[in-house]
Amino acid sequence: MATILAIETSCDETAAAVVHQRQVLSSVVASQIELHRRYGGVVPELASREHLLTVGDTVGAALAQAQRSWEEIDAIATTCAPGLVGALLVGMSVGKTLSMVHQKPFLGVHHLEGHIYASYLDQPGLTPPFLCLLVSGGHTSLIRVDSCGQYQLLGKTRDDAAGEAFDKVARLLNLGYPGGPVIDRLAQQGNPNAFRLPEGNISLPEGGFHPYDASFSGLKTAVLRLIERLQATGDPLPVADIAASFQHAVVRALTKRALRCAQDQQLSTIVLGGGVAANSHLRQSLTSLAAEQGITVHVPALKFCTDNAAMIACAAEAHFDQGHRSKLDLGVFSRLPL
Ligand code: KG4
Ligand code: ZN
Repeated sequence: MATILAIETSCDETAAAVVHQRQVLSSVVASQIELHRRYGGVVPELASREHLLTVGDTVGAALAQAQRSWEEIDAIATTCAPGLVGALLVGMSVGKTLSMVHQKPFLGVHHLEGHIYASYLDQPGLTPPFLCLLVSGGHTSLIRVDSCGQYQLLGKTRDDAAGEAFDKVARLLNLGYPGGPVIDRLAQQGNPNAFRLPEGNISLPEGGFHPYDASFSGLKTAVLRLIERLQATGDPLPVADIAASFQHAVVRALTKRALRCAQDQQLSTIVLGGGVAANSHLRQSLTSLAAEQGITVHVPALKFCTDNAAMIACAAEAHFDQGHRSKLDLGVFSRLPL
């Protein structure tokens, strides 16, 4: 068991954390949401520059809040992929530099592995095998987890990620960025059955549908057509009903596939991860439907669903304990399979 300091800068959050034995000693997140909001999405060059300005203070704050000195840190970890290359490079360069200066081992961590490990932060007793439904702004995947480093991708989106669909639909409804939290809030005042929207089924050449893969771009287009049709009537747009119906369609698509996959794989535990795991309807719906089938669902605390460095430190600790180390010439990758 080790004490890990981790840095995460793969997208628009500058984050640093200290974790020991899966316990979070500190987790600091400097969000860039305000910076990118006016552009309606993340501007990669601005993200890199902001990381550069913020990363030093963020690491300092994480160490101070954890009340640890450099001597007490066993290893330094940073996210190496996937993500925005310029943004990843900032965290990686700082992590490598700190590892050289303080003579600590260095570990590069896959961002998605971090999202999987976020569940361990609340549930130190969680043990594989389990199915992870990983739903973020960039990914929508069903991953079978057998042990640290042993992952099998069983299902995925064929186009937009679930979080991307939330963000794009929010833009269609002029709700601002990021779309997930605002649609989540608005949907609570709307009728989820007001409009029937597609569940993103993928047809197979031999007939029927792929059991685990999904498409969310068709759903986004269906919402666009719905908005156009409703606007043509001249009546005020029922924004809350559209938000609730859209969210319902996404959640239905995700829960159906996750439960089918868990059953087929004979797994009795599903772990949620990624920013969309913060969605209140997804958390409730998956948990209650799974319970009916004797499947337990682990949902990370809200602050560990969206990007943070504690989840990176937690994944790094598992690798560190297995004796894994990264070389200092490790690169960053915008895409990298898990
Ligand atoms: O994991 P994350 O912070 O970053 C990536 O690795 O992509 O996920 C960000 C995504 C965004 O698309 C955001 O709209 C979505 O997570 N999100 C939500 C909620 N909170 C964040 N989606 C639905 N409901 C939420 N409450
Ligand atoms: Zn993420």
